[in-house]
Amino acid sequence: MLIRLSEVTKIYRLGQERVHALDGVSLGIDRNEYIAVMGPSGSGKSTMMNVLGCLDRATSGTYELKGQDVTRMSAGALARIRNEEIGFVFQSFELLPRLSALHNVELPLIYSRRVWWWERRTLARQALDRVGLGPRASHRPNQLSGGERQRVAIARALIGSPSILMADEPTGNLDTKNSDDILALFDRLHAEGQTIIVVTHEESVACHARRVIRMRDGKICADAPQAKEARP
Ligand SMILES: Nc1ncnc2c1ncn2[C@@H]1O[C@H](COP(=O)(O)OP(=O)(O)OP(=O)(O)O)[C@@H](O)[C@H]1O
Ligand SMILES: [Mg+2]
Repeated sequence: MLIRLSEVTKIYRLGQERVHALDGVSLGIDRNEYIAVMGPSGSGKSTMMNVLGCLDRATSGTYELKGQDVTRMSAGALARIRNEEIGFVFQSFELLPRLSALHNVELPLIYSRRVWWWERRTLARQALDRVGLGPRASHRPNQLSGGERQRVAIARALIGSPSILMADEPTGNLDTKNSDDILALFDRLHAEGQTIIVVTHEESVACHARRVIRMRDGKICADAPQAKEARP
C-alpha cells in the first residue's frame, strides 16, 4: 500500500475558534490508483491534499507513505519526502513569469544534489515532451495558452518521477477544450502507471478517475469505485 491514513485530524486554531478541517479520516491508497476527491466548499479537500502531499502536518492520527511514518518526521525530512515523492498541480498553475517553460520545469531539481545541470535539462526536455510541449520549451508563461501553462505545470510536477501526482482543481481555470486536453493527459499518465489524486467540483472531471472519494464536514462520507459506464 502506497498511502495509509489512520484517524487523521487537522484542527486549525484561530483565536478562540477551532476548525476541525479533517475529523477522523482513514484511507488506503495503492499504487497506480486514479482518485477523484469531491465535496462541498469547506469540506476539507484541500486540507487532506496538503496533508497527503506533506505540505502540512496532521494534528493527530498517523500517515504512512511507502511504509514510513510521516507524522513523526522532522520538517527537513518531510520536505525531502515531499520533493521526492509528490508532484503538485494547482488551479492557478503557479509558474514563474520570467522563466521559460523549460526553466520552470527544471525548478524542482535545482536544489537536488543528485542531479547535475545537464541531466536536469535533459529531464526537463523529456518532461515537456511527455506533455506534448517540446516545441514550446523557450516560451515564457505569458507566451502560452492557459492549457499549455497547465501542461508546463504538470511537466514540472512530473520531472522528479514522483510516486503521486496531486492536482487541486487542475482544470478550474480552463475552458472545455483545454480541460479535455488535461484530462486526456491524466488518462495517459495513469495508463503509464502514474498514481493520481485530483480534487474537483466537476463530475465531468471526476468521471475520468477510477475511484471517487466524497467529503463532508472533514469526513469521508463516500468512497467507491467509479462505474465503468460512467467513464468517458
Ligand atoms: N489556514 C487555515 N486556518 C484556519 N482555517 C482553515 C485554514 N485552511 C482551511 N481552513 C478551514 O478548514 C475547512 C476546510 O478547508 P479546505 O480548504 O480544506 O476546504 P475545501 O474542501 O478545499 O474547499 P474548496 O472547495 O472551497 O476549496 C474550512 O472550513 C476552512 O475555512
Ligand atoms: Mg480547496
